[in-house]
Amino acid sequence: MRTVRISSPTVDRGEVDLATWLQSATDDDLEREGVERLRPLPPDATIEVDDAPAALDAVAAVAGLSLVRELVEMRRALPLEPELTSGPPLATRPFRAGVDDLAVIEVNNRAFAWHPEQADWTVDDLAARRDEPWFDPCGLLLAHDTAVRGAGDVGGDGGGSGRLLGFCWTKVHHEEVPPAGEIFVIGVDPVAHGRGLGRGLVLAGLAHLSGLGLRHGLLWTEADNAPAMGLYRSLGFRVARRHCWYAGSGAEG
Ligand SMILES: CC(C)(COP(=O)(O)OP(=O)(O)OC[C@H]1O[C@@H](n2cnc3c(N)ncnc32)[C@H](O)[C@@H]1OP(=O)(O)O)[C@@H](O)C(=O)NCCC(=O)NCCS
Repeated sequence: MRTVRISSPTVDRGEVDLATWLQSATDDDLEREGVERLRPLPPDATIEVDDAPAALDAVAAVAGLSLVRELVEMRRALPLEPELTSGPPLATRPFRAGVDDLAVIEVNNRAFAWHPEQADWTVDDLAARRDEPWFDPCGLLLAHDTAVRGAGDVGGDGGGSGRLLGFCWTKVHHEEVPPAGEIFVIGVDPVAHGRGLGRGLVLAGLAHLSGLGLRHGLLWTEADNAPAMGLYRSLGFRVARRHCWYAGSGAEG
């Protein structure tokens, strides 16, 4: 179900009505009266829409609101077709609490230095997720330089030192019917990008989820994350849902 949140320092009844209308507007509704309804919004307004229809982007643009952030949920059936999984699997091992925390945080922060929510993780951030009821160390797969072909060049540290280069963190959604498995976080140290490690880690994560009997895979990513989108599309993931933020010309960034 679509949800809509409109924020503006000058929110009034009109914005509440607009949010209600947007929640159930069809593509036809948007084309017919979307611009007219959106245009009166003050320039400092932002609109956050979960399950945003594609037609809203153009309508918002004409009304003076830019698409400033787009998160996409991608899905595909599990397991993967054999032609996508040919070749030897990447060697990974499960996370060990108290042993791997700092290495995971370091790779995470290097991989996601640019990310609004995933950057600058601390030991406490990781501990909070480890305390979640769904956390399973077997679903947090680690790849070290000993497992990567050509790792001798990676980071110029001689290779084979046991340094963590990437991880794939999976999450099982038992609340979904039928249950689904998520690639929750995938991060590769920038020094090792472009060597097939990301693909190997996602394949390892999906194989883990398939091995649990799950038949539906999902993940969330920024739509403008070209490496991630390229990787996921090449593995057969397709966009199933968009979560979008639109902002007027005077909205705070
Ligand atoms: C996304 C990420 C995991 C990819 O890891 P990687 O080891 O560099 O990727 P691989 O070498 O395995 O490449 C696999 C595929 O990804 C895509 N890809 C990788 N880098 C790319 C780039 N710079 N531009 C476009 N596509 C790219 C390609 O489809 C590639 O397949 P190809 O080599 O057959 O062309 C890595 O860039 C990363 O950690 N990014 C930061 C964290 C992040 O964005 N995580 C995903 C959040 S949802």
